[in-house]
Amino acid sequence: MNAGSMNILGIETSCDETAAAVYNQEKGLLSSALFSQIELHKHFGGVIPEVASRSQLEKINYIVQKALDDAQLDLSRIDAIAVTNKPGLPGSLLVGVCFAKAVAWAHSIPIIGINHLEGHAFSSFLEHTVPFPHLCLTASGGHTSLYLVEDFGSYKVLGETQDDAAGEAFDKIAKLLELGYPGGPIIEQLATEINFEDYYKYPRATHQTLNFSFSGLKTAVLYSLVKQHAYDMEKKELLDKSIALKQRVASSLLVCIADIFVQKLEYALSLHPSIRAISFVGGVACNKYIRSRIQKVAERHAIPCYVPSGRFCTDNAAMIAFVGNYKAVKNQYADLYLDILR
Ligand code: KG4
Ligand code: ZN
Repeated sequence: MNAGSMNILGIETSCDETAAAVYNQEKGLLSSALFSQIELHKHFGGVIPEVASRSQLEKINYIVQKALDDAQLDLSRIDAIAVTNKPGLPGSLLVGVCFAKAVAWAHSIPIIGINHLEGHAFSSFLEHTVPFPHLCLTASGGHTSLYLVEDFGSYKVLGETQDDAAGEAFDKIAKLLELGYPGGPIIEQLATEINFEDYYKYPRATHQTLNFSFSGLKTAVLYSLVKQHAYDMEKKELLDKSIALKQRVASSLLVCIADIFVQKLEYALSLHPSIRAISFVGGVACNKYIRSRIQKVAERHAIPCYVPSGRFCTDNAAMIAFVGNYKAVKNQYADLYLDILR
């Protein structure tokens, strides 16, 4: 193995994306291939685990080959395989982990297990050099966490959601409003149309904590709809299907979630004055309104704010290969007993 120019193959199959990427220690990202299952799950208004794992099985071989082809490398040039082994949907994770182990064994390539959340937490580094220590807000469909990131692979959880994730709140309320899946982009579009008006002023918890909770917000939206006879609880049916109602709910929801993020970041910054930057990552970081609100927090504190491009905010294997690279440098390899539980 030629340290200094190692090629890391990253594999990501934790949920509803099948992804593979190649990262070179000197040249950076060489390729990033992805198949998104959104079309398969749209119909159900959310991810169906059995459908997800079957699709992972169908696509994994093709996507890994595409990442190698795009990088113009074959497996003989791969020095380590980094694979997401937790957390995620067990059936989906197993496809990537078993595939990676089989290739690793057949080609005598070392393997590295990667925590999906560590991948997101360092995804800004694919395009930027983020100074340490920094705050990282990860907001996706499955997770909402605030980290104090001290170095590569060294980070502390300052707070996390106690129930639903922020993206899950967007997705569930979009389902309630019959807007389709995933909810985030549609909610953003509707909110933009009425210029982010905070029409309903949904309640924000005022107590000081760095943990998040979004299930109460979902209930507040539901009860507000019921109260204005826009939703029938018994029949579970939206009665007022007007675009005006959907815009008002979407916009109030988006502003509320942005306010919660701003409040948490301000509190974390007051507790950790040594913070030198903010990084905002995960699928929800695609949201331009929330990005601009977080950018303003950073400006108030005279520190930079980094957000990856959209393709590195949502699930991808580039971030997994990137984390795999610094773990390879530190010799943090797994063995072929790598599983999805430990
Ligand atoms: O990171 P990701 O692809 O998958 C998980 O690891 O969960 O994030 C997907 C989530 C979905 O909940 C989706 O609604 C949300 O990211 N999302 C957005 C936007 N684009 C995607 N949320 C708010 N605004 C957006 N523009
Ligand atoms: Zn993710």
